[in-house]
Amino acid sequence: MDYKVLISEKIAEIVDLDANTIVDKIEIPPKSDMGDFAFPCFILSKVMKKAPNLIAIDLAEKINKDNLEKVEALGPYLNFFLDKSAFGKQVLEGVLQAGEEYGNSNIGKGGNVVIDFSSPNIAKPFHVGHLFSTAIGNALYRMYNSQGYNSVGINHLGDWGTQFGKLISAYKRWVDEEALEKDAIKELLRIYVKFHDEADIDPSLEDEGRAYFKKLEDGDEEAVALWKKFRESSLKEFQKVYDRLGVKFDSYNGEAFYNDKMDVVVQELKDKNLLTESNGAQVVNLDEYNMPPCIILKSDGATIYATRDLAAALYRKKKYNFVKSLYVVGGPQALHFKQVFKTLELAGHEWAKDCVHVSFGLVKFADRKLSTRKGEVIFLDDLLKESVNKTLEIINEKNPNLENKEEVAEKVGIGAMVFTYLKNSRDKDIVFDWNDMLSFDGETGPYVQYTYARAKSILRKFGTVEGDVNYSLLTSKEEFELIKTLDGLNDAILNGIERNEPSVVTRYVIDVAKAFNKVYNALPIGTAEEEVKKARLKLVEATSIVIKKALYLIGLETVEEM
Ligand code: ARG
Repeated sequence: MDYKVLISEKIAEIVDLDANTIVDKIEIPPKSDMGDFAFPCFILSKVMKKAPNLIAIDLAEKINKDNLEKVEALGPYLNFFLDKSAFGKQVLEGVLQAGEEYGNSNIGKGGNVVIDFSSPNIAKPFHVGHLFSTAIGNALYRMYNSQGYNSVGINHLGDWGTQFGKLISAYKRWVDEEALEKDAIKELLRIYVKFHDEADIDPSLEDEGRAYFKKLEDGDEEAVALWKKFRESSLKEFQKVYDRLGVKFDSYNGEAFYNDKMDVVVQELKDKNLLTESNGAQVVNLDEYNMPPCIILKSDGATIYATRDLAAALYRKKKYNFVKSLYVVGGPQALHFKQVFKTLELAGHEWAKDCVHVSFGLVKFADRKLSTRKGEVIFLDDLLKESVNKTLEIINEKNPNLENKEEVAEKVGIGAMVFTYLKNSRDKDIVFDWNDMLSFDGETGPYVQYTYARAKSILRKFGTVEGDVNYSLLTSKEEFELIKTLDGLNDAILNGIERNEPSVVTRYVIDVAKAFNKVYNALPIGTAEEEVKKARLKLVEATSIVIKKALYLIGLETVEEM
């Protein structure tokens, strides 16, 4: 039973509005002593030709009060107080029955949601921005799936471009095969940087690079084989990160995949009279929309990033017939996506409206200055290592006898990073600060994971309870608050999906952990009277299920002990 729906139906019985309209208007009062739900009566004042506060008084009297403790008029609001014990029973039984399915729904009914995320560049380091995209994309992937959509994860690898000609040239001159075998990206980056240093001295290298790229484009066997080698060895490195994060993709079709799919795009834009010439280039003029033109063909006839994204959008629509197509890419590419989506719209594709740029902010570090000078990058591997090592240090201090310390440190250390990415609205810049991220009692991944482990240790100590309990014993303020919070998972997911904002679920799980710890600190379990103890154990069990599920949705694993 959904209480919002129940209340809406009760209101619908006595006013001239249908329950569906009402349900969207139901609010959660700012303070719990004002009730659990509220309905703003000014919505009705026009039709009823009456002041909202008078309407509230009238409705408070007439409304059917089954399942409710009381209904009060407060100014223009009608405030509903739930019958705590009926509510507690309904919510907790719902959680316990649903188990890991809790929070799911089928509103998506199999609609495909394409999510372009992570999308690092071959032969270049996977950087902190790609991890941001990966964390958001993976969370959205899971959130959409939980609501009956079918998520399609696409890793749009940056695997094409003139840099591959340079890499081939650099490879033939300087590669250290052993180093390449060991750490492909570091070695590819090394020779790529060397190429640029050497080209500063001997510009003819640039011509050599161009010539190799031409060979690659023409399908020259050796060039293609090398390109494949770069791609595969880089992907192998990326895969290690994905495995640690538990991230999966349904497709690794990157930029190169669209090489033979761009003529069609150019032809279509031509046929629709959208192409104009500008300094020798073919562009789609977007003056009218206050945007610079979208370049389709450069003056030398070469296609660019936008051409590929147009081809990719058309391909994805055809292949997946998506209801939504998301691009989880940093804020600096906002204009690019605006141009691409506008061009699709001008070409008459009404589904352009279903394409969304899910952008995010910049990543900074509290304890170091990042210079983007040549070659100076933070390797993600090093960062993950640092997080895991620091977590291990904390565990050694707090719980030196823990058995599987390494495994726990891995899950908690990596989780702490993902959590940091997903904690605030994605458009905000984030600052990595180890002390903040790894603290066991801030709003952090470790804090929530620790809370989960605490719940599990209670259940290990006292055992889970089979069969019915008396839920009316869970009516203290703390318990009721926790139950109300547990009730909110589905709302949080739906809210998050609506804005493509995983932080809604992250904030939600922080709230659950806080509400649980309040109960934990205020109310004893072991020394409680037997019936109360049983009911509380059910509450603890339900909490553990909800935390685990919410953490799963944002891409974190849980540990039983830490
Ligand atoms: N490879 C690009 C980068 O690292 C991101 C690609 C995003 N996806 C897309 N369809 N353009 O910046």
